[in-house]
Parts: sequence; structure tokens; C-alpha cells
Amino acid sequence: MIPGVPQPAFYIFKCQQSAPPGMPKPSCVSQNDPESQQLFQHLAQSLMMKGIIGTVQPIQTGCLNRCQQGPVMLVEPGHTMYVELTKEKIDRIIDEHIIGGNIVSEYVIPDEMWGEAIPPSQMAK
Ligand code: FES
Repeated sequence: MIPGVPQPAFYIFKCQQSAPPGMPKPSCVSQNDPESQQLFQHLAQSLMMKGIIGTVQPIQTGCLNRCQQGPVMLVEPGHTMYVELTKEKIDRIIDEHIIGGNIVSEYVIPDEMWGEAIPPSQMAK
């Protein structure tokens, strides 16, 4: 039997939304903040250097609707939303959560900004 291609253990959705200059709304990638522009590359490079890219798949995504807490990224499975990211925080998340299996709770979005999901079956018309 041919072994199947293993599915990824994690997907990491990094918000790459960038607001045009002059927009009052905050965005996860900002022209005034060089580090914010480097975070996705840093994430991908760190996963590569640790040899776990593939089983951990970094995905560039649009706005995840938590712009005030940006830069943000969502780790799946688990619905874990990490906020106010820096390169150092990403390194810790990779080591402690992705490899170590322990969520870095200091960097997780506050509960009042990330309430329980409403099941679509309750909302569907
Ligand atoms: S711009 Fe990143 S969450 Fe909205």
C-alpha cells in the first residue's frame, strides 16, 4: 500500500492585511512599522530552520477582524488567536506551542475579544 501524504499538524494563518497610508484603521502590516512587514517571512524562515515547515503550514491571509490587537495570527487546530506579535513572540509560540504543545497564554487574545463561537446551525435561516 502506498502511504498517504501526511496532512499538516498545524496551519498558521498570519494576517497580512495592510491599510493604505492615511487610513485611520489599524492593520496588521503597517508601512510605518518595518517589523510588521517582516513577521510572515520570519515565521516561515523559523519553521524552515527548525525543519517543521510542511507539517506546519504558514498561510498569508487577509483581515481576521481583530485589527486593534494586530499583528495577529490564528493557529489551527485550536482556534488560538495570538495578538500584538513580534519576532520574539513568534519564536516562543513555535517552540512552546507548535513544538512543545503548550499554548503561550500571555500572547493569546483576551477572552472578551474572542468569545465562544456561535454554531452556524444556530444562526442559519
Ligand atoms: S488587519 Fe489584521 S486582523 Fe484586521
